Amino acid sequence: MVIDLSRSKRKWDHIQYALETGQKRLTGFDDIKFVNRSLPGSNLDSVKLQTEIGELSLSSPIFINAMTGGGGERTFRINRELAMAARETGLGIAVGSQMSAIRNPEERRTYEIVREMHPDGVILANLGSEASVEQARAAVEMIEANGLQIHLNAVQELTMPEGDRNFFGALERIAVIVQDVGVPVIVKEVGFGISAETASKLHAHGIRYIDVGGFGGTNFAEIENMRRDRLLTFFEDWGIPTAASIIETKSAVQDLSVIASGGIQTSLDIVKGLASGASAAAMAGSLLKILMEHGTEGLINEISLIKEEMAVIMTALGVHTIKELHQVPFVISGDTHHWLSQRGID
Ligand code: FNR
Repeated sequence: MVIDLSRSKRKWDHIQYALETGQKRLTGFDDIKFVNRSLPGSNLDSVKLQTEIGELSLSSPIFINAMTGGGGERTFRINRELAMAARETGLGIAVGSQMSAIRNPEERRTYEIVREMHPDGVILANLGSEASVEQARAAVEMIEANGLQIHLNAVQELTMPEGDRNFFGALERIAVIVQDVGVPVIVKEVGFGISAETASKLHAHGIRYIDVGGFGGTNFAEIENMRRDRLLTFFEDWGIPTAASIIETKSAVQDLSVIASGGIQTSLDIVKGLASGASAAAMAGSLLKILMEHGTEGLINEISLIKEEMAVIMTALGVHTIKELHQVPFVISGDTHHWLSQRGID
């Protein structure tokens, strides 16, 4: 079996360019301000970070989101270290797209190491919407996954010279996978955001978990443009900012578990995402950067700090649980207010 070098190279390019382009802080979270409570009536020692997303029970509401895959030694090591950090801090973790390992079994070790390192963790498998039910089952089996992410990335594909051009039938394929795969299926974007309309369509086809993957953090149009001659720069400013995407999605369908993601960098971003209606938050680019610059220990320290800070913020807001966060009042200003009011969401 021959390893597809162009695919391996692409995956390494993604990592390098993601680090280079960085996180833009255009998520809209800075437009959200909590209302101070001078009598919070809370106690830091009583704050609990446990959360449920549908059937999945998590000791903390943070996920390391899907990033690396492929057959290279470097991506293997990154996955091993991310999984170790997730284990040490009690986080869930999603692996990168497994399609290449389904086609080339020698690439499986890059994914299997995540389960090996984090044997009791909540681990999510990952495939694109071109996947069949058989491939979905194989991806879940490969890492004994607790859930399956299916990514939607039409704008990224269109920006990629070798990317897909035909998006027919994705919704129907996902609906069949949801019926048959036997674990929760989370549909996710990769940085362009899920809209109210998309959320409603997904819900009508049986999807109950959405990771909004909003605009404002890792920018795959920018990343793909670094890999091509003819630039599609108009896609670099394309997408629903994360804060607006969470609120759109939640307002369209109540009966959905939403994961806040896209440009999440800080404890305050996470708490704002949860207060906007998400049950958990997922981080990719910002954690990758910390891992590459400060190693596994540095990443573990940063995640531990984020969790401690979340508890402090929740104490200031007078809440002890993630569920209670959903009731906390906040004020939305600026572009996010403008966006939501034009979209008819109060
Ligand atoms: C990604 N992302 C991603 N998503 C996915 O569903 N399958 C994948 O294989 C990958 N691969 C990947 C590689 C690298 C290097 C990065 C940085 C990201 C997208 C990721 O899960 C997330 O949706 C976006 O990066 C937006 O979140 P952040 O990075 O702004 O926190």
